[in-house]
Amino acid sequence: MAEQATDRIIVTGGAGYIGAHVAVELLASGRSILIVDNFANSSPIAIDRIREIAGDDVDVRVLALDLADDANREKLIEAAIDFGANGAVHLAGLKAVGESVAAPLRYYETNIRTTFNLVRALEAAGARTLVFSSSATVYGDANQSPVNEAGRLSPTNPYGRTKFFIEEMLRDVASADAHWRICNLRYFNPVGAHPSGRIGEDPKGPPNNLFPYIAQVAVGRREKLSIFGDDYPTPDGTGVRDYIHVVDLARGHVAALQYLLTREEKGALDVNLGAGRGHSVLEAVAAFRRASNRDIPTQIVARRPGDIAEIYADAGRAADLFGWKTEKSLHDMCTDHWRWQRENPSGYVED
Ligand code: UFG
Repeated sequence: MAEQATDRIIVTGGAGYIGAHVAVELLASGRSILIVDNFANSSPIAIDRIREIAGDDVDVRVLALDLADDANREKLIEAAIDFGANGAVHLAGLKAVGESVAAPLRYYETNIRTTFNLVRALEAAGARTLVFSSSATVYGDANQSPVNEAGRLSPTNPYGRTKFFIEEMLRDVASADAHWRICNLRYFNPVGAHPSGRIGEDPKGPPNNLFPYIAQVAVGRREKLSIFGDDYPTPDGTGVRDYIHVVDLARGHVAALQYLLTREEKGALDVNLGAGRGHSVLEAVAAFRRASNRDIPTQIVARRPGDIAEIYADAGRAADLFGWKTEKSLHDMCTDHWRWQRENPSGYVED
């Protein structure tokens, strides 16, 4: 435990949906954190809530900074040295698939520059341990499920390609300099919220993803859920995904970091974070109805371009390397997502 207590971790994007949950779990594991966030798609209120959940006696610092701006690199280096960082979890970036198709350069510039500046800063601060927020989207539609880390990488949109290019960049960095320890975490479909109901996903505008959309229908903010196709070659015809509770996901980051900080051999590795099983859209809707006790009107519409029928993880590597696996059920995901939505119907608002 003594070693853990001294870890000092930078969390980029630490005010965002996944970042806030990672921040809470890092603090719960005894680490000190420095959140770096430009609050472009997140709220400073999330920071107050992180502190509230983590309790007194935790060390949370915040640096409001846009890492995509090269002029800020020196500021990060100074802050990292001052903080005494020995590693980072990197979640900052843009993440909307449709937007990335419309504005690819913005996605390449933001996501890649941000990573570039972070890696340079970590190098300068002598903190060469990095957990990167990658995505199962790097697998595209080229693999049979369950998909393992040796699966073919063929992302199908600019957002996914930024994740792929960054993974490639980090693999190159690690093979050129043996001091680096890097883990690319390939998330499946993160959903749910912290059981306290204090932090959760707060999408701006109409949600693109299934769970936030269902939740907004359940709370009465939207009329009905459109189900994108019921003629896929899946058991009930709707798309199948590997939903993972965001708290399980956040704990996967802590497990990855712990592994990197204690392992002897160096280099980069790629690890899936998923539950290892798929659920259909209809199963997800039924589970949310049960958890919320609300009617959730639906209509079947055409398939969404770019969607695949089915993808779920082979979650074996995370279990073998980190001793990590998911603990929460689809019902837990729905219950916690619903609590967050019900108690924060308009997202983050001052108490
Ligand atoms: N779906 C609907 N109606 C909706 C939203 C989604 O039926 O309103 C269906 C989709 O067709 C899919 C499933 O619900 O079958 C899940 O869709 P999400 O949008 O929630 O998740 P995706 O699997 O499409 O998205 C994931 C990640 C993204 C990533 C993307 C790549 O959440 O970060 O894969 O395609 F970029």
